[in-house]
Amino acid sequence: MKYRAIIFDLDGVICHTDKYHYQAWKAVADKLGIYFDEAINNRLRGVSRMESFEIILERYEGTMSEEEKVRYAAEKNEIYKELLKNMTPGDLSPEVKDTLDALRLAGAKLAIGSSSKNARFILERLGLDGYFDAISDGNNITNSKPDPEVFVKAASFVGEKPEDCLVVEDAKAGLEAAIAGKMDCAAIGDAVKCGLADYNLETFADLKKVAE
Ligand code: BG6
Ligand code: MG
Repeated sequence: MKYRAIIFDLDGVICHTDKYHYQAWKAVADKLGIYFDEAINNRLRGVSRMESFEIILERYEGTMSEEEKVRYAAEKNEIYKELLKNMTPGDLSPEVKDTLDALRLAGAKLAIGSSSKNARFILERLGLDGYFDAISDGNNITNSKPDPEVFVKAASFVGEKPEDCLVVEDAKAGLEAAIAGKMDCAAIGDAVKCGLADYNLETFADLKKVAE
């Protein structure tokens, strides 16, 4: 194996929670009369909850106190968590699970590196609780992607050096974080177009070719 550990972003890589983030933010944006669409939603990939709200508020006409911001973000999270309850192990694609199993069998340690504070809940919904060797998420970081902290911690949780890790990301902020952390990175989905990655994946299963 070319890499001793593979660190996966969660939202948009292992599963597709993007639509739930969108619906939940849309409910809050509508309430505040703020224009919000899928293109703006794409800018929220990899970005923390409060930073995401700041991006949405770029189109807000009024002013909002920090206290109100925290309250609306909490409201979004409640809506989001209700939507996440729709997820079941059936939402984990066989391609993703088979690829993860194959990488593990080939000797790679598998970790999560996600900005989300809901990462463990999502993994549980997918039937992946206890599956990964380590989880680094929004609860153990001070600085969100593009800061490398979440990936640096994931590498240290699995006891590997950054240069021995590969990061898999669907967000530009996530690729920037991997690069800042001196890790190789593979882009999938929306992140491919920014051209920052060492590898561009057409499918998740392509990872087997990249990492072997
Ligand atoms: C990232 C998502 O994984 O987690 C972002 O790509 C999201 O869109 C961030 O804002 C924080 O998520 P949560 O679940 O803590 O609100
Ligand atoms: Mg993502």
